[in-house]
Amino acid sequence: MTRHFLRDDDLSPAEQREVLDLAARLKRDRFAERPLEGQKTAAVIFDKTSTRTQVSFSVGVADLGGNPLIMDSKNSQMGGKESVSDTAKVLSRMVELIVWRTYAHAGLVEMAEHATVPVINSLSDDFHPCQILADLQTIAERKGELAGLTATYVGDAANNMGHSYLLGFATAGMHIRVAGPDGFHPRADIVADAERIAAETGGSVSILTDPVAAVSGSDVVITDTWVSMGQEDEKAARIATFGAYRVTAELMAHAREDAIFMHCLPAYREYEVAPEVIDGPQSVVWDEAENRVHAQKALMTWLLKESE
Ligand code: CP
Ligand code: NVA
Repeated sequence: MTRHFLRDDDLSPAEQREVLDLAARLKRDRFAERPLEGQKTAAVIFDKTSTRTQVSFSVGVADLGGNPLIMDSKNSQMGGKESVSDTAKVLSRMVELIVWRTYAHAGLVEMAEHATVPVINSLSDDFHPCQILADLQTIAERKGELAGLTATYVGDAANNMGHSYLLGFATAGMHIRVAGPDGFHPRADIVADAERIAAETGGSVSILTDPVAAVSGSDVVITDTWVSMGQEDEKAARIATFGAYRVTAELMAHAREDAIFMHCLPAYREYEVAPEVIDGPQSVVWDEAENRVHAQKALMTWLLKESE
């Protein structure tokens, strides 16, 4: 059966551990896995802009022995011209993997329904699961065992990162708290899924409004942009709404003394995070960015193996 990775909970807790173990091994031994030797091709398609995702998949596919085909959907027949299902069938005849960054998550679901090769979500409006694997790898490097740690995400708790932290961190057995203003809390069905997973892994899920209460005693403090791709028209209103959720040294002081700070990047130092935090000693954002390469190489290797 072809395996896909569209949401964080497409990997069971045991499967997520396997992928993270492989990511750690590939970080130590860069060319240890060569599933795309040949050279086979992975299509990496962008409907939205990217630096990290574009570069980490390009480097990762090449490290696995393959050829990364970076496609800007605007220069293809995708979108208004050709259906997702026809695109999935055509690409499946030519490439070994489809990686897609898009807007509506439903497009990825449709792509996976019609593709006969693994489909990877490299960010949709609802989830960013590849980022969460890199984040878990980074936390494990700093803290050891993931299960039992408390991580808090503050800011736009209704966006793709908020949703993915709920599912991915609950899968890892962590206590995940997300805090945002009223009207910017995560989708109820995703919270319910995360709670069900946490009940199985020994983690927990808390949805909060007060950023200070949320951060108190946390091992990990995380934020993301207040204006995600596709929300540019709402920028002024969003900046006015999220001001109290800016991660400053003062907010970080409520977390554990040895807490780490994370951000998927790109970061806006004038808004969601103060320079003294993201550029300070608690920040692990550059490791987090690098780990996109290792985590995604592990994911691609694992999906290809499971789909044989
Ligand atoms: N974090 C992340 O996905 O970065 P890019 O948008 O640059 O790919
Ligand atoms: N929430 C952000 C993440 C960017 C990597 C966005 O969707 O734009």
